[in-house]
Amino acid sequence: MYINPAWRILTIGDGDLSFSTSLWNNYKPQHLTATVFDDKQSLTAKYGDEYYQQLVSSGCQVLSGFDVTCQQTWGKLKRNHYDVVIFQFPLIPAFSSVQEFKQQCNNFSINTLNRRLLRLYLLNCFEHFLADNGAKLAFITSKDVKPYRQWNIEDALTLNTNIHFIGKSCFDINQFPGYKIRNVDRDKHVKSTQGTTYVYSTEKNTEINASLGDKIKGCPQDNKSQDKYCSICRTGAFYTDLDKQVHLASKKHLQMQHYEQQWLSYLQHEEHQKDRMG
Ligand SMILES: C[S@@+](CC[C@H](N)C(=O)[O-])C[C@H]1O[C@@H](n2cnc3c(N)ncnc32)[C@H](O)[C@@H]1O
Repeated sequence: MYINPAWRILTIGDGDLSFSTSLWNNYKPQHLTATVFDDKQSLTAKYGDEYYQQLVSSGCQVLSGFDVTCQQTWGKLKRNHYDVVIFQFPLIPAFSSVQEFKQQCNNFSINTLNRRLLRLYLLNCFEHFLADNGAKLAFITSKDVKPYRQWNIEDALTLNTNIHFIGKSCFDINQFPGYKIRNVDRDKHVKSTQGTTYVYSTEKNTEINASLGDKIKGCPQDNKSQDKYCSICRTGAFYTDLDKQVHLASKKHLQMQHYEQQWLSYLQHEEHQKDRMG
């Protein structure tokens, strides 16, 4: 992950604050605001408050009970102040019962709800968190295995917005000594399988473009060659038409196509909501 020490950084949903603490200790950014979704009491009960105290005593701002989708929880956060916002391994919290899920999901699937979390994160980054005179970058680090790769992070999240996916890089946890990747709800830390950091900006050319890999690995830019790829499954190049037909009929592709359709329905719902609010 490319980090410029001159940056003002905001971290989102940092389970136990070990990522923010490592970021602060190893890169000394100009400013760091770290946020956690849990309230202070749950944070302390799950993980203790060692990282919290370390950050606060180093002069960093730490906000608990911070829901990136809900402005009312943002408290003393300075608006439009940051160069980069980072969300490591986002995942919606588990529902405590089927009943709770039915009440809250609005008939959307877990796949759509995770995409919604990331879309709202990106929209709020560029509308409320990032400074106009700054680097204008939003990072999402996630895993390239199921169910995360079924979110189509590269293409789906920014549809109908002015935000561009500008590239990705491998996430190397050794760059962040002491960072423990946390499960969404429990106090255990997860096995550090390979992660990828996806980078977004409203600018097409940013100071970090040169450090990022291809948008779609190996996928050529011209439409004719793209015919040999399946962008939603990120599969290809198909050697023959028959190979492509076999892929399009596969369970894996049909499942992804279903998720894409659900996502488009969600985006329509979002549009209707916006129209209704005027
Ligand atoms: C798999 S955990 C990863 C935790 C931490 N970022 C890490 O890398 O160890 C997913 C995190 O996303 C956070 N999260 C889920 N929904 C959120 C929301 N609406 N706003 C902020 N954080 C959220 C959860 O609280 C949880 O800490």
